[in-house]
Amino acid sequence: MVSDRVGFCLILLVTVLGFSGGVTAEKGVTYDGRSLIIDGQRKLLFSGSIHYPRSTPEMWPSLIQKTKEGGIDVIQTYVFWNLHEPKLGQFDFSGRNDLVKFIKEIRSQGLYVCLRIGPFIEAEWNYGGLPFWLRDIPGMVYRTDNEPFKYHMQRFTSKIVNMMKSEGLYASQGGPIILSQIENEYANVQAAFHEKGVSYIKWAGKMAVGLQTGVPWIMCKSPDAPDPVINTCNGMSCGETFAGPNSPNKPKMWTEDWTSFFQVYGAEPYIRSAEDIAYHAALFIAKNGSYINYYMYHGGTNFGRTSSSYFITGYYDQAPLDEYGLLRQPKYGHLKELHAAIKTSANPLLQGKQTTLSLGPLQQAYVFEDASSGCVAFLVNNDATKVVQIQFRDNAYSLRPKSIGILQNCKNLIYETAKVNVAKNSRITTPVQVFNVPDKWEVFRETIPTFSGAAMKANALLEHTKVTQDKTDYLWYTLRFKADSSCTNPSLFIESSGHVVHVFVNNARAGSGHGSRDIRVVKLQVPVRLINGDNNISILSGMVGLPDSGAYMERKSYGLKKVQITCGGTKTIDLSRSQWGYTAGLLGEKVRLQNSMNLNKVKWSMNKAGLIKNRPLAWYKTMFDEPSGNGPVGLNMASMGKGEIWVNGESIGRYWVSFLTPAGRPSQSIYHIPRAFLKPSGNLLLVLEEEGGDPLGISLNTISVTGSNNAQSQLS
Ligand SMILES: *[C@@H]1O[C@H](CO)[C@@H](O)[C@H](O)[C@H]1NC(C)=O
Ligand SMILES: *[C@@H]1O[C@H](CO)[C@@H](O)[C@H](O)[C@H]1NC(C)=O
Repeated sequence: MVSDRVGFCLILLVTVLGFSGGVTAEKGVTYDGRSLIIDGQRKLLFSGSIHYPRSTPEMWPSLIQKTKEGGIDVIQTYVFWNLHEPKLGQFDFSGRNDLVKFIKEIRSQGLYVCLRIGPFIEAEWNYGGLPFWLRDIPGMVYRTDNEPFKYHMQRFTSKIVNMMKSEGLYASQGGPIILSQIENEYANVQAAFHEKGVSYIKWAGKMAVGLQTGVPWIMCKSPDAPDPVINTCNGMSCGETFAGPNSPNKPKMWTEDWTSFFQVYGAEPYIRSAEDIAYHAALFIAKNGSYINYYMYHGGTNFGRTSSSYFITGYYDQAPLDEYGLLRQPKYGHLKELHAAIKTSANPLLQGKQTTLSLGPLQQAYVFEDASSGCVAFLVNNDATKVVQIQFRDNAYSLRPKSIGILQNCKNLIYETAKVNVAKNSRITTPVQVFNVPDKWEVFRETIPTFSGAAMKANALLEHTKVTQDKTDYLWYTLRFKADSSCTNPSLFIESSGHVVHVFVNNARAGSGHGSRDIRVVKLQVPVRLINGDNNISILSGMVGLPDSGAYMERKSYGLKKVQITCGGTKTIDLSRSQWGYTAGLLGEKVRLQNSMNLNKVKWSMNKAGLIKNRPLAWYKTMFDEPSGNGPVGLNMASMGKGEIWVNGESIGRYWVSFLTPAGRPSQSIYHIPRAFLKPSGNLLLVLEEEGGDPLGISLNTISVTGSNNAQSQLS
């Protein structure tokens, strides 16, 4: 009986798929040299990147709604392979990984989707989205004409495409997905693979097209994109830098218009003005562009250990919607007005003939005109310092420095990129609770492992991730070192290729060091106190995410490269080939302390009088109530050093406030706790502190903006 039913369902499914799989000229997406063509109509599209795992499903509806109200037509997202296939053949599409739910939410709000499958995505995401287990597949070389890589890339890409098809989500099936992307910024690495790079990108295009989605494929930053795949531009000024599509029959598209720039620990946020974004977006449209995607429109949060090397936990907080989904004004509103101004002239833009006129040394007009659809002109003043008067047809227009004016009907100045009508807002962080009552904290301190307790030993310094398999940031290298009185003023020299090193000798911390995104090699010389006889040297190597880019990523190596002891400033003993013990991960990680049912697996102490502070490798826990209201919530971690935070078992990400910017500030002090992680009372806060900090200074904050956060009422 059961098997009968299964058989019946299968037949039905095949029939339905067979029926809707065919693509007709009216339904679905094609393109010409001007634009994408959806259901037979040319389209001028504004798009915004939102990555589903960087927010919670509870946040998706309002993020999408605010995006739509910002005049955006398409939501662009990557697909995150290493979230979806954490183990070979084991898939996860639940919770924040629920791609289908995200796309259906976009559909229900009437927007389109651009699905960037990759499956290599970069994205400041751990390992650029590749699952770490790929590295162990024999013969593996990523992103080139390599059979094992192509096999797994095709397997995962097909899996996603088939999933979308079975849910009816491609535009060719009446769904919202109008575009898919294969590969990602391949031009950055292609040369490293020589002729294999050329054959790989041809294969990737052919493989993708062979999956028959009924919608076009794109490749960003990939001038060699094979027909019919469209090559697109990424950057801040694609109106100036893009050489254009590699065939006159492909439209000019901008997949990543960076609204800010990623931020690493030790760096300040990158602020890109609303005027500058609007100028370059308008210029791209004036020069025949028909699709612009803002990267990011909402960045969100790198929860858990998902950010790649040295990137902060908040992602593109300076986007039109900030990390929490609050409107960032005037950026949001100024772009909304730009989209509206351009859309009023969609007809002449898409049907008219484009001409370019020079109106001065740094002034041009781009005109789109057609007898039946009207006229629109973009007047460009590319003089960064002077206001200029521009005579165009029967009228004179005064244009601000570095500004583009949009003339509706080639006459009425309806928008100027350098003239901002929307008021600036500011974000307010209000402490609602300071965790300054010592007795409310409990602490558990890690024991420092020693060589004798190590389960794994080797006569070499092993590569960090070979041992950890990226299941933890941490790896202990332990050694027994016999010293005698002949070694005076000993010091330990350590060289590591990433990212953080903490040195312990006989259970006491001797020193720490770390690299940065620019300085990848950590070198550390610390004086140590040795006793005559056996000493325990325990070195903790920590990673802050795997890389997300570059050729031959599978060959990158991390962890300790060289360890030496110097005596009397002259005699050097190289320990690199001594016998080392290895312990992956911390004790608290091993017992999964973040789950409340495991809390009793370690021994906690009361933090009496708040004395247990500035200690390395300490776990702190406390309970708290949810702040009232429904606005965003965040923890101010400025009193701490470096580590990771969990709320009710959910990791809200790594924090690193001790790594200061040149201006002397932490790159990120406030760490977002999504409302969905909270219950009204009895919330468990667990903090792992790696270097030393004072938990009594941590505070719980609500975050809001001055004025309204309502997308519609922001504009008068
Ligand atoms: C825009 O497209 C038209 C028609 O193909 C072409 O004549 C014109 O040179 C293009 N303009 C720019 C700035 O690329
Ligand atoms: C080194 O560690 C072992 C346990 O692994 C311990 O018995 C010994 O006392 C330690 N030595 C020192 C000098 O702390």
